[in-house]
Amino acid sequence: MIPFNKPFLTGKETKYIEEAVASGKISGNGMFTQKCQFFFEKRYGIKKALLTTSCTDALEMAAILLNIKDGDEVIMPSYTFVSTANAFVLRGANIVFADSGVDTPNLDVAKIEPLITNKTKAIVVVHYAGVACDMDVVMDIAKRNDLYVVEDAAQAIESFYKGKALGSIGHLGTFSFHETKNIIAGEGGLLAINDEQFIDRAEIIWEKGTNRTAFFRGEVDKYGWVDIGSSFLPSEVIAAFLYAQLEKLDSIQSKRKQLWDNYNDKLKNVPIRLPKLPLYATNNAHMFYVICKSLNERNSFLTFLKKYNIGAVFHYLSLHSSSFYKQKHDGRNLLESDKYSETLVRLPMFYELSVSDQNEIIKAIEIFYE
Ligand SMILES: Cc1ncc(COP(=O)(O)O)c(C=O)c1O
Repeated sequence: MIPFNKPFLTGKETKYIEEAVASGKISGNGMFTQKCQFFFEKRYGIKKALLTTSCTDALEMAAILLNIKDGDEVIMPSYTFVSTANAFVLRGANIVFADSGVDTPNLDVAKIEPLITNKTKAIVVVHYAGVACDMDVVMDIAKRNDLYVVEDAAQAIESFYKGKALGSIGHLGTFSFHETKNIIAGEGGLLAINDEQFIDRAEIIWEKGTNRTAFFRGEVDKYGWVDIGSSFLPSEVIAAFLYAQLEKLDSIQSKRKQLWDNYNDKLKNVPIRLPKLPLYATNNAHMFYVICKSLNERNSFLTFLKKYNIGAVFHYLSLHSSSFYKQKHDGRNLLESDKYSETLVRLPMFYELSVSDQNEIIKAIEIFYE
């Protein structure tokens, strides 16, 4: 069986975990946490990075930071992971789903403005497959309408929009290090704070609503309960694992790009739709997806690949028609989002995918479409 994903280990993970354990400091915000956060701040121009236990947690922190309250409206794509929406629903928000674009599963930025009302508080964009949304347009809409922008960059490490790192453009950005991502920690995430006004409060929310971080820096002489928060920071064991991965980011990326390019070159002549990269976006080779013509074609395609022992998979089911949200959705049809739900297939993509296995996948696809 060629699996859909296989977590890649650089070899240094356990060494760094041993170092963390030996240091006697294994709770959060120790040396490895600082190293990981600094890596993001320096490499991507993020004002303040805070490691979290998942991208889900980073999104929940974002919703708290933006003071999302009952009845506030948040605009986001329907074609996304549950956490993008759930984080805001936990604060009482109504989610206003925007349709995806025709060219990419990202939300269609032209559909945002008509959805804005006097209750709208924020726009959450998702850079699907690590491919940028048109952020100049999004930031301009936000500025004119006095809205905040959160970039769900769960899949978007090391990807750029007009030279700017994804996750560093909106007021807040969130990353995932779940084992299916380019850089992993088993479970893990990071909140990027790009608007300085949020930094102090973010540290408090991160530390269970206390000012412990300021206390450790010697800024206050005792710490206590000053706001709401939760236990959003991971232990040093997670941070040590993650740092071993971040050190190898360049080689991981270069291997993934070779695999991505090989799929893209060899599948060019097969009658199946391949990913499109807008001119303003770079490719971080997070995912290689193809788009079938219909749900029927997609189902037979997946069944066919399964017979060849190839672990291809579909992806999100539109959130506006999920069993949890469909009664709350305002009833608009979101046809592009549904189309991606029905026709998109993700092919195996991981560091250790061998060229011969990849060529077998490509051969099977050619046979299916012959
Ligand atoms: C777009 C998007 N947002 C958020 C998440 C949640 O990430 P995590 O598993 O780190 O909580 C995912 C997970 O894959 C995702 O794809």
